[in-house]
Amino acid sequence: MANFATPLEKTPDINEELKQRIDADRVPKHVAIIMDGNGRWAERQGEHRMVGHANGVRSVREALTGATEIGVKYLTLYAFSTENWNRPKAEVEALMDLLVKTVIGELEELNANGVRLHAIGDIGSLPESCRRTLQEAIASTAKNDRITITLALSYSARWELVRMAREIATKVRDGGLTPEGITEETLAQHLATAGMPDPELLIRTSGEQRISNFLLWQIAYAELWFTNVLWPDFKKEHLFQAVLDYQNRERRFGLISEQVSPA
Ligand code: IPE
Ligand code: IPE
Ligand code: MG
Repeated sequence: MANFATPLEKTPDINEELKQRIDADRVPKHVAIIMDGNGRWAERQGEHRMVGHANGVRSVREALTGATEIGVKYLTLYAFSTENWNRPKAEVEALMDLLVKTVIGELEELNANGVRLHAIGDIGSLPESCRRTLQEAIASTAKNDRITITLALSYSARWELVRMAREIATKVRDGGLTPEGITEETLAQHLATAGMPDPELLIRTSGEQRISNFLLWQIAYAELWFTNVLWPDFKKEHLFQAVLDYQNRERRFGLISEQVSPA
């Protein structure tokens, strides 16, 4: 009888399977994501674009918990670009509203999981209620150190680079710095991401293969990972797959293969 018995098989958990293949010593410290495709996700089901944005919040949770589980220390999410201000007014307002509600709704969970919230971008340009909610949440999570989630809001790399140039020019004018004293480090210290390591891995969803004005300086040597998955369908397994692919690439930094992976 025993021979005919079907063994009780455990449903393979794709997340566990992928996670086990990840080399814990070579997990990227900083993962950046261009969360794209919310509008198309909604339109494909005959829904309003906002339905896509609302469903994108679940994917933010997936990315954050996945990143925390594998030991990523910085997760930076492109949530709203300076160019996105030019979208229809109703969408911009609804997005700002969603941001406030999400931050308020997730705050307890962030604190419970040791997540520090941070934001980069022209935060002063956000509506007052958004700015206040965001600043309160940032202050409330400031001591958490398991992972830092950075929301890029009203952000663009060119905005950031112009601001950097102005700050450095002002220091030179005021005598605090000489032109010859300006190094790569000086520039990095004046970016919105000062103090964070550069992202080793940049993910973009929705099939578009472009940078759209995100972290131009910081991604000089990032590995790029593109997927056709639309942001509201993004799950932990996609993050884990991206990290596995990242670990299978040879990062040469201008050297030759023998120099970076000696036989
Ligand atoms: C990304 O999704 C979210 C934001 C840019 C705010 P989109 O809204 O760009 O969705 P698509 O690209 O139009 O499908
Ligand atoms: C990039 O997505 C900005 C964010 C994800 C916040 P967009 O949808 O705005 O980019 P483009 O217009 O396709 O380049
Ligand atoms: Mg888009």
